[in-house]
Amino acid sequence: MSKKREQKWGWWFLLPLYPYQQRATVRQEVVEDTIWTFEQPHGLLYAVVPIRMTVVKLKQGGLLVYCPIAPTPECVKLMRELEARYGEVKYIIHSTSSGLEHKIFVAPFARRFPQAQIWCAPSQWSFPLNLPLSWLGFPPQRTYILPEDWRETPFSDEFKYAMVNIDLSKGSFAEVALLHKSTETLLVTDAVIKIPPSPPAILELNPFPLLFHARETALDKLEDTPENRLKGWQRICLFALYFRPSMVDTAPLKQLLKEAFNAPNRSRENYFGAYPFRWQSGWKQSFDAIASLEKPFVAPILETLILPQNPSAAINWANNIASWQFKQIIPAHFSAPIQATPLEFRQAFSFLDIESNRPEKLYPSGNQQIFSRDSTFIKQLEATLIKLNIAKPPKLKRVQGEDNSSLFS
Ligand SMILES: [Fe+2]
Repeated sequence: MSKKREQKWGWWFLLPLYPYQQRATVRQEVVEDTIWTFEQPHGLLYAVVPIRMTVVKLKQGGLLVYCPIAPTPECVKLMRELEARYGEVKYIIHSTSSGLEHKIFVAPFARRFPQAQIWCAPSQWSFPLNLPLSWLGFPPQRTYILPEDWRETPFSDEFKYAMVNIDLSKGSFAEVALLHKSTETLLVTDAVIKIPPSPPAILELNPFPLLFHARETALDKLEDTPENRLKGWQRICLFALYFRPSMVDTAPLKQLLKEAFNAPNRSRENYFGAYPFRWQSGWKQSFDAIASLEKPFVAPILETLILPQNPSAAINWANNIASWQFKQIIPAHFSAPIQATPLEFRQAFSFLDIESNRPEKLYPSGNQQIFSRDSTFIKQLEATLIKLNIAKPPKLKRVQGEDNSSLFS
């Protein structure tokens, strides 16, 4: 089979995000003969980051899959190689209720592994219509909702988990953190991340998105150099974290059209030459501020919009997880594995500690002003959602005289 056919994802139109119908997969062994990560690229407007599933070999024989990705022929082939050595997929964990970018792959993945049980986070919902899981393709005869008590699952000999479930009024944010006890590895989905300083391997396979974002204007050539790949990655991270970073402006329409007309590359892939972004000179400081954080942190969207909706639920969850024994964390995006202690995991959530009213200084290298400035768009988004009655005002009281950048204060 050609590489193109191997990487084909026919259901791309269900959630039309880059790279659409061509999705490469990179498998990496994280713990010898025991844990593997599978990564694919994933994003919007070439703001592409890795999306990751994790596979764990079971002592009882077979495999457990956490947070499945698109089952392209290449991905399934890489899975079959593991199955040939270690046994069939026995359990698939659908670890989130709100992460559409993860949910969309679970049913198609499960269809390729018809003997596997599918265990889902509670409070599943869908948008725009709230459909039952079976309508979304989940096979009802082998799909289960994870019980509150992890001891009631058939994989409790090797794993335990803790779930957070936050009511967002129109839906919920639920996430399952799963601990593989023997390797002391914590699997999470969106809860915490760490930013890699350079482009991940999966994005180096097709560097076009990196080069796209490395330009200053549409008149610049798309040059494939290590410097441009790095610069593109740094800017992509800012888009992925802040949606509209404060250090980027957009060109006026007239100028945009004029430049597109004169652009050296007017291909469809390059949006016919259209490139609206104008990066201000200090943009690199914004990247350095997040890339210098050596420990896991909560992404700004969760920090601002989601977790403050129920701080005590999030803190209880983090406390529960922090009482476990682990030495590394594998999230579904950005860096993995992250070397981190339970205390460091807990510290990522200390912005929710209202009682202290002044969170401890966690990230001395972080810059509060920069984080506050870069989160402006998310804060505006929050205000709009509250006004439209889509979101509720946060229960978390912000520290007096400061804004919600308290994570980094
Ligand atoms: Fe996600």
